[in-house]
Amino acid sequence: MKKKVLFVASECVPFVKTGGLADVVGSLPKYFNQEKYEVRVIIPNYICIGSEWKEKMNFITNFYMDMAWRSQYVGVLEMLYEGIQYYFIDNEYYFAGDKPYGYIHEDVEKFAFFSKAALSILPVVGYQPDIVHCHDWQTGLIPVYLKDSFHGSEFFVNIKSIITIHNLKFQGIWNIPAVQDATGLDMSYFTSDKLEAFGDANYLKGGIVYADYVTTVSHTYAEEIKTPYYGEHLDGLMRARSNCLCGIVNGLDYQEWNPGTDTMIAKNYSDKTFRTDKVKNKLALQKELGLETDKKKMLIGIVSRLTDQKGFDLIDCVMDELCQDEIQIVILGTGEDRYENMFRHFAWKYNGKVAACIYYSNELSHKIYAACDAFLMPSQFEPCGLSQLMSLRYGTLPIVRETGGLKDTVESYNEYEETGTGFSFANYNAHEMLAAVRYAESIYYDKKRSWNKMAERAMKVDFSWNNSAKQYEELYVQVSP
Ligand code: ADP
Ligand code: GLC
Repeated sequence: MKKKVLFVASECVPFVKTGGLADVVGSLPKYFNQEKYEVRVIIPNYICIGSEWKEKMNFITNFYMDMAWRSQYVGVLEMLYEGIQYYFIDNEYYFAGDKPYGYIHEDVEKFAFFSKAALSILPVVGYQPDIVHCHDWQTGLIPVYLKDSFHGSEFFVNIKSIITIHNLKFQGIWNIPAVQDATGLDMSYFTSDKLEAFGDANYLKGGIVYADYVTTVSHTYAEEIKTPYYGEHLDGLMRARSNCLCGIVNGLDYQEWNPGTDTMIAKNYSDKTFRTDKVKNKLALQKELGLETDKKKMLIGIVSRLTDQKGFDLIDCVMDELCQDEIQIVILGTGEDRYENMFRHFAWKYNGKVAACIYYSNELSHKIYAACDAFLMPSQFEPCGLSQLMSLRYGTLPIVRETGGLKDTVESYNEYEETGTGFSFANYNAHEMLAAVRYAESIYYDKKRSWNKMAERAMKVDFSWNNSAKQYEELYVQVSP
């Protein structure tokens, strides 16, 4: 009999995405052995999901669900997409707005509703999973509810839960009276061995305490979060759960991210043809973004949420120095005003040399991964990171700080042994980053053969889901034999 797994998450490509979580939830389910595993996915039916997807959803049913003193509408829609069964939970009050997340006080109620509804629809749609695989704080209440109100029912009693931490920084924290009111959980849950942390209620903590197993998205991050620097005040809990905690590094959807077949880029190329063809993407992008067209100039890319996690303070500190070099920089990202404005300022100051695209565009992101020579990702912390994997796949050499998944996926260049797939630096220090970028520049301009060999190695490393999906399969068997 197939093992049944249910993914529950707050975002999923191609329907709705704010970051790497959506890439993982939208691609990993396709990579399990279909003969042994059946994976279905539940996400919210946000109003902001595009009409091209809404048209393809089928309405199954609706019912009313008790949430504390409220009775809330739960609509259930479904869609079979690329072989995976998706369910969308509908409620126009909670899932309104032009993006998935808004104010935290609204989000805690929204995701309490979503977590309870995700379990409540299972008997209705007739899917009884062996394991519910939860992702991030938005689904942290699911392991709690499974041990609480749902535990009495025969349908739920044997269901195990796993929670994957994609980012420990976001925990879903709000005051206890409000969370108690939103969740309907008994006051006995709000103690320091359960959902309470530092006087407030904490959804992710609830998930970590109550899940049968906890994973995160790289080996290094799984170790880092047991320390105070990376532990976001939960390092003690991470240490306490360390016998049920492991890191499984993310993979990429190699069908979507393939320079050989990508329809969004100017010129396709492979690890055999990139020496002549990749540069055509650079010329096309330089033209499109108003950069000086020069196929020899080293082009460095950044595609990112613009938040402090990603190390933009380092870039801010040395950007003027960096812009004295023979390089061009292209940024695609949205986020905090201070970083959006910082990049707009540099694009104005170094017109023709720096391009700032302060918006979201999947298509432009593909063009940047294909066009650039190097990709800069100096993160302060990075649970896994997918952008550097996309860069590697497109032969665009990552320059990264040695943290979390960046450390696990980018092998630093060793000029003596001619090994490595990128460049790295250890400390969160702007001049260390600058030195790493300048070292990369020197290899690019003075040792082109070594650069190209490195790009070839980068394109050949395997970060498809194949390996990691197997590790999840083993974990599912361990948790639910
Ligand atoms: P995180 O999840 O922390 O944001 P990841 O590196 O895991 O970081 O994933 C980021 C994903 O979001 C990548 O697929 C990246 O290409 C994409 N992305 C980030 N910002 C943008 C943007 N402005 N336009 C298009 N894609 C973006
Ligand atoms: C988070 C992390 C990122 C990771 C992604 C998917 O957004 O910040 O490092 O790659 O989740 O797991």
